[in-house]
Amino acid sequence: MSSQKDIVSLRRKIQRHEYLYYVADSPEISDQEYDKLLKELQELEAAQPELITPDSPTQRVGGQPLSKFAAVVHQQPLYSLDNVFSPAELAEFDARVRKGLGADEVEYICELKIDGLAISLTYEQGLFTLGATRGDGKKGENVTENLRTVRSIPLRLPEPLDIVVRGEIYMKRSEFNRLEGFANPRNAAAGSLRQLDPRITAARNLDMFCYGVLAGQRTQEEGYQLISRLGFKLNPHRRICRGLAAVQAYVQEWASRRKELDYDMDGVVIKVNSIQDQQTLGFTTKFPRWAAAYKYAPEQAVTRLEAIDIQVGRTGALTPVARLTPVELNGVIVANATLHNADEIKRKDVRVGDEVLIQRAGEVIPEVVGTVRSPDGAGANRSSQFVFPRNCPACGAAVLKDTEDEAVWRCPNADCPARVRGALRHFVSKNAADIEGCGEQIVEQLHRAGLVKTPADFYYLQSADLLELERMGEKSVNNLLEAIERSKNAGLARILFGLGIRHTGQFVAAQLANKFHSIDKLLAASEAELAGTDGVGEVVARALYTALAAPELREILRRLQKAGVVLSDNREQVSDALSGQTFVLTGSLPTLSRGEAEALIKSRGGSVSSNVSKKTSFVLLGENPGSKYARAQKLGVPVIDEAAFKKML
Ligand code: IVH
Repeated sequence: MSSQKDIVSLRRKIQRHEYLYYVADSPEISDQEYDKLLKELQELEAAQPELITPDSPTQRVGGQPLSKFAAVVHQQPLYSLDNVFSPAELAEFDARVRKGLGADEVEYICELKIDGLAISLTYEQGLFTLGATRGDGKKGENVTENLRTVRSIPLRLPEPLDIVVRGEIYMKRSEFNRLEGFANPRNAAAGSLRQLDPRITAARNLDMFCYGVLAGQRTQEEGYQLISRLGFKLNPHRRICRGLAAVQAYVQEWASRRKELDYDMDGVVIKVNSIQDQQTLGFTTKFPRWAAAYKYAPEQAVTRLEAIDIQVGRTGALTPVARLTPVELNGVIVANATLHNADEIKRKDVRVGDEVLIQRAGEVIPEVVGTVRSPDGAGANRSSQFVFPRNCPACGAAVLKDTEDEAVWRCPNADCPARVRGALRHFVSKNAADIEGCGEQIVEQLHRAGLVKTPADFYYLQSADLLELERMGEKSVNNLLEAIERSKNAGLARILFGLGIRHTGQFVAAQLANKFHSIDKLLAASEAELAGTDGVGEVVARALYTALAAPELREILRRLQKAGVVLSDNREQVSDALSGQTFVLTGSLPTLSRGEAEALIKSRGGSVSSNVSKKTSFVLLGENPGSKYARAQKLGVPVIDEAAFKKML
């Protein structure tokens, strides 16, 4: 029986690694080691449930569903921001501020305006006790249980403080791209946060940037330093700007740099840095007078809607796609845009033949905003309203919705040719089996010719069959067969991801591969064992268990294995050679890309950090190294080159 002290110290240890991974972005241990610690804690707590506390890392997986969210009255209202849309309006804001303060030049702090949802986090005696949405600014909803699942939100602070921290919940684009049926990452974040079942929220990997604290600091920046010390995640791109010119430069810089980010932002927030000055300026009924949001104009264009096609994805989701007269949108020719779903078409009442406004927010695919002009100006001669099909355009099956209030219609036919082709395209894609050179057209040809129906069929293709296909000469056939051969070593995680099992995105696939190491062990796992995988909640485990039991999937796996596709985790075979070792990379390596080197380290149980410290095991040195090399020498950290690194593997 372990003591309360053991549990507390284990918890502290895990909390520290969560911080390093999710907030500081510089993990010191591998994912496997983290999983091991968490599992250890879960086991200790299971044996002594009376020792479970609300701030335990095990409490992040999502508790019991609620029947509704309770209302929360904010201690202090959550204000919104006054918007400016041009350099001239920004200059007017600065002039108002200077006048209000009687100053010639003002020190501002500029930060990115994250496109998510505002929330407020309350800590009592250092314990996270309440998380609320903004609501109307005065009253929001209690979403504490859902926010607990967000790993970058500390459940306990290092000091027993009573504070309220505010910030923005958002979803990374990479996470959004895994999901279907949401218009944009913001909607996906909102939908995920407002789930009555916290286990669903837990599976969505939401994140948070903090931008405000109600405490007695001298400057906004000091407040940020305080909350950063307390373990909250701050956006790294904030900058103190003295005077209008510096602010304008920041605004300009991020107008073009926003594409670098893995999350959406829709502008820049400019705040007066001095808290005393903020108090002097005060608030209007709606906005602080000491802050403004510079909103970037979305990239927009007007063109003609030629047709609306329905695309059927591998999960059966029907997505209406607008076919447009090609038009330039910020340097790129756009001929297609999404109309999201049936409800959106109805709401926007866009019709074929209309002139429509299209826009792109960030990197996301362009969308149709609405009609600007119908053909005759008045609308009398417009084509009739678009009727969303009741049947799948590819196979004719009657379409269904998963639940009444869902926006997405789905084709339920697993043999639907459009779904099958979508599934095959997914299997060969870069992050999955990565069959190089096997693009959309080849997949379509192979499927049409009846040569490939399931992922396993790729591995039984004969050159004689392929040579009969159009535009396939000997050389392309050989290249394709070689690429297929190479993909046999893609590894368990990628193949699992490629099979397109519901709820099994890249992250879950990697977690499963880490935990079970081989397909045989995974197939033998109980529902409870699946649920014990980090990142797999009970809901996902149940769905996964059913999916893995399906005879069709089992048959595909059997044939993959028979064809020599490696269905075990490479990590296990190559051992944990680098287990517990932390690497820092600097400079460019002669043969390996940075990503490849990192993957090799992680696949052998090591971890990669961005900062050199005394704890760093090795610095992997390439050409034109940065300051990390000097630091390594100073701290006496061993430095190795690529050749030495390869030997270690
Ligand atoms: S400060 C009193 N900072 O923008 C100041 N807001 O239009 C209140 N937002 O409701 C907000 N990034 O949801 C602030 N760095 C940032 C922000 C930010 C995004 C959102 C927030 C707010 C809305 C105002």
